[in-house]
Amino acid sequence: MAKNSITAGELLRDSALRLREAGIDTARLDAELLLAEVLGCERISFYTHPECPVTEDEYQSFTKLLERRLAREPLAYITGTKEFMGEDFAVCPGILIPRPDTEVLVEKIIELFGPESERKDPAILDLCSGSGAIGLSAGIRLPGAKIVLSDVSETAVVTGRRNADSLSVNAEVRHGDLFETLLPDERFDLIVSNPPYIAEDEIKGLEPEVSVWEPRLALSGGADGYQFYRRIVSQAQSHLASDGVLMLEAGDGQAQTLRELLENAGYARIEEIRDLTGTVRGLAAFLV
Ligand SMILES: C[S@@+](CC[C@H](N)C(=O)[O-])C[C@H]1O[C@@H](n2cnc3c(N)ncnc32)[C@H](O)[C@@H]1O
Repeated sequence: MAKNSITAGELLRDSALRLREAGIDTARLDAELLLAEVLGCERISFYTHPECPVTEDEYQSFTKLLERRLAREPLAYITGTKEFMGEDFAVCPGILIPRPDTEVLVEKIIELFGPESERKDPAILDLCSGSGAIGLSAGIRLPGAKIVLSDVSETAVVTGRRNADSLSVNAEVRHGDLFETLLPDERFDLIVSNPPYIAEDEIKGLEPEVSVWEPRLALSGGADGYQFYRRIVSQAQSHLASDGVLMLEAGDGQAQTLRELLENAGYARIEEIRDLTGTVRGLAAFLV
């Protein structure tokens, strides 16, 4: 029953309370987004028209979504999309949900190869591409770029392809283990990667939205978290142009060790990529 024609405002209040009791910090926002999804309206309407009645069908549909969120399924898996750099990316279980922290890498790519730069039309490899958030966001802003996405997960390959098509980015999507998808002599101006970098033991201590729902394949960087960084740093130079750049997202507290790995690999210059709070979110290593 729709509880004798409950209003949108009442349903929102009750569901936000249940989500809060389940330990979800973003309870009110999540309730609003789920209800907006079901009612096909903007969140603002819950404030301008809280008295709007919810039909029986809408109530039932909303309750199903709410139960999923109460089980700590990430909101993005329930709605099927996540906004990144202002664009909607399709996501599903099996795909890492793109994080706002990663956006600074895209901004750095635009700084290096965008209209203000001398370097134009780069060939860019997004290694460990997942939804394609990094490579496709760069492709949207650099229409002359050649974009290749590559991931070992079949779900990531299908989702990356789907996002490239829906965002109208002319990208190639490859399937396989790190650099194995490349021809031996294939070279890129930029190799960018947000690889799995969480130490295996740390995963179980994360929020259930991550530890239970997001794919371990996208999270685990091996025993110390650096397994992929080591592999990527040791192989990237064979696939970089002579003035190429390797750009890596860094997990919390990993930038110093990552910098040492890059320095030992002989890069001429390493730049930190910081977010607005000054936290280092990535490193860009330049061959010249
Ligand atoms: C942290 S996620 C990053 C996804 C996306 N780039 C982003 O920033 O949202 C890491 C990705 O690495 C992929 N991956 C894991 N092992 C891999 C391997 N051996 N070769 C290529 N990709 C791999 C996972 O499937 C996952 O999509």
